[in-house]
This record gives sequence, C-alpha cells and structure tokens, in this order.
Amino acid sequence: MTAPALDRLLAAPARLNRSDAIRAILAAAADPGVISLAGGVPAPDSFPLDAVTAAAAGVLREHGAAALQYSPTEGVLAARAALAGLASQTGAPAGVDRILVTSGSQQGLDLLARTYLDRGDTVALDDPSYLGAVQAFRRAEARLLPVPADGGGMDTAALAARLAAGARPKLVYVIPHFHNPSGALLGAARRAHLAELADRYGFLLVEDDPYADLGFDGVRLPSADLHSDRVVRLLSLSKTLCPGLRVAALVAAAPVVSALAATKQSADLHTNTFGQYVVARLLAEPGFLAGHVASLRAFYRARATRFGAMLRDRLRWLEFDPPRGGLFFWCSIADPEVRSDQLAPAALAAGVAVVPGGPFFVAGDGSRHLRLSYATVPDAAQHTGVGRLDAAYRAVAAAVTRHRTGK
Ligand SMILES: Cc1ncc(COP(=O)(O)O)c(C=O)c1O
Repeated sequence: MTAPALDRLLAAPARLNRSDAIRAILAAAADPGVISLAGGVPAPDSFPLDAVTAAAAGVLREHGAAALQYSPTEGVLAARAALAGLASQTGAPAGVDRILVTSGSQQGLDLLARTYLDRGDTVALDDPSYLGAVQAFRRAEARLLPVPADGGGMDTAALAARLAAGARPKLVYVIPHFHNPSGALLGAARRAHLAELADRYGFLLVEDDPYADLGFDGVRLPSADLHSDRVVRLLSLSKTLCPGLRVAALVAAAPVVSALAATKQSADLHTNTFGQYVVARLLAEPGFLAGHVASLRAFYRARATRFGAMLRDRLRWLEFDPPRGGLFFWCSIADPEVRSDQLAPAALAAGVAVVPGGPFFVAGDGSRHLRLSYATVPDAAQHTGVGRLDAAYRAVAAAVTRHRTGK
C-alpha cells in the first residue's frame, strides 16, 4: 500500500492561505546577491543594542532563575504594568487587567481570529491591508468584507453604509498609523466614527498599530478606545525596540483579555518570560523610550527622505506620495499597461526584490502597485537596487510595447 501524500493530511484551513507569490520573493530576497526592498522589517542598525544588553544583564542579576521560568499566560506582572503605562499614554487609562502580553502582535491577530471567528463570520478591513492579518482571518475561514480606504485610512462612511445595509462584521480591522502597505494615517474623526459604529453594531474594532512611533514629524493620534470599550489595541514593540524579543501588548476590556488568554494557553502557554522582563526593565528606565523613539524617527525620516529623492530622480515612471512615517513607499506604475506582477519577477531576476501590490488586496486591483521598503537597505545599496529596478522596468515596458505594436 502506498501512503497518501503528506498534503492529503492537511486540515482544511491549512490548505487555504498560501501566499506563494510573496513567499517566493522573500525567499529569493535572502540571497546575498539580491538587494531587498521587499521585507517589512525594521533597520537592524536602529536596534538599541547597548540598552538591551544592559537590561538583559540587569534582569538576570535581579530576577535570576525566575526570569527563565514558566510564567502566567496573561504576562509577567512587571511587563503588564509597564505596557499598561505605555497604553495609557496614547489611549484610555489601562490597568493590568486590560493587558495580555502576546508573542508579537501577530499572535494577537491569531488569537482574535481563533477566539471570535467561526467559519463564515465577517471581518471588515481596509482594502489593501496587511497580509498577516488577512492570513489569520482566512485561516479562520472568515468572510472578508473589503472597505475602501484613502490617505486618511478606512472610509468609515462606506463602512457605515455597509452596516446600514445589513453587514454584521464581528471584527473591523484597521492599521491606524502609517498603514502597511499604504502608509495611510487614520484620521481622528474616523477613529471616533469607528468607535461609535462599534458601539452601535456591536463589533470589536481591532487597531493594529506597530508603526505608531514611526511618524517622521512625531504625529501620533490617540486610540479609538478613548471612545469605546469595544476597541482591541495591538501595541507591538517590534518596530519601536526590536522584533526578536517577540513581546507585544494586546489592550482590551478585561473579558476580552480573559477569553484570549484561554486561547493563548493552548497556543504557547505564555510569551517568553525573559523577553518580558527585559522589556519591563527598558520601559522602567526613565527617559529611555522617549529618547530612543526620538532617535528612531530621525533615523527613518532621514533614510526615507533620501530614498524618496532617489526614486523621484531616477524612476520617473513611478508615482507615489512620500510617506509620513512607517517603513514603506506605496507606489504605482504610471503606465497602466505595465503590471507590477510582471515587474516584480523581472526585478528579482535583475537582483532587486520588490513586492507587487496584488496580494495586499481582497477586492481592489493591485496590478499597478508596488510596495518598496526603504528601511533596511543602506544608501549605497539602495542606489544599486533602484538602478536594477529601473533596468527591469525598461525591459518589461519594452516587451509590453513590442506586444502592443506586434513588433
Ligand atoms: C500591520 C502589521 N501588523 C502586525 C505585524 C506583526 O508584528 P509583530 O512583530 O508585533 O508580530 C506587522 C509586521 O510587519 C505589521 O506590519
């Protein structure tokens, strides 16, 4: 008897959810010969290495074995308290009962999907949106309700119209600051409107906010949780400190935190104890976070300004609004006949990785869009990468012209 192929053993949700295009690009981007403008990762030279080194040593000195032991599912008390303090600065006052420490905010998304979504439940979200969230919701076999968005974030009037017409999402998902991929900043009036809609229609409003500290001019708007207790905030430290510690805060009403903690218990028991102590210690250091965030903003602002100038100067075929924060330039190709899903593989073959727009959309057309990350690549490599992208574009555009004219 021949055993069935391994794929046949996969559970139904695991058969969904294959973002092959992007996986292939990211895998290829790991080749040292490829310059990657594809990844959504923060600049390693921005990490506070000395502070983390000192905090790690301090944690072991102060807590010893307890820092290496199992710990409560909701989080280590010192970390919850520190994260509650952080949440209270930018939203509703939070006590520790409103904090669940998660292994990155990606885990917060996964826990929300597992805890609140049955097959066929609706999740409303911006179109385009963050792929990791789309994957978590798709895995739960949710129905995705794309809502149009612009530079001010989700068009809440469009959402209100859908709700009035009978749509009943359980979750509404937004990325309030410097959206991935679009760079949008969700305006204050729209935040208040979303909170009002959450109270009226009973959904949970999920604010996934990893880029909030990366506004180049320091702009940061308060959370919608000032207006409603149906808001769930995901406060990642991945872009503010570093992603490798995998420590993030989910901030929500206490019953939501309890329900999610029950799900988390079966996922990973708890978030990395040592990392939580390190984060708690860093956040307790007077002035550390404010100083670090100020230097991060200056670092990214300078790098993004140089990258934007380079794009304007050298890639005249590319259109974009310069981002006000975050890690990405969300661009479109001026010639509607040159598709980004043709350009991305040609660029990779030329030695530069970029992400085409298509996979970020649920309903909209991303064929003209490209997401470029300026964050991790030093200036000289950016220069080379942009040159390679230009060469790839010219080759693809020439092939399109030949095809059009039949020559
Ligand atoms: C919008 C958004 N949400 C969540 C995440 C995941 O972040 P974390 O490292 O906190 O899991 C990312 C990572 O790029 C992101 O862009």
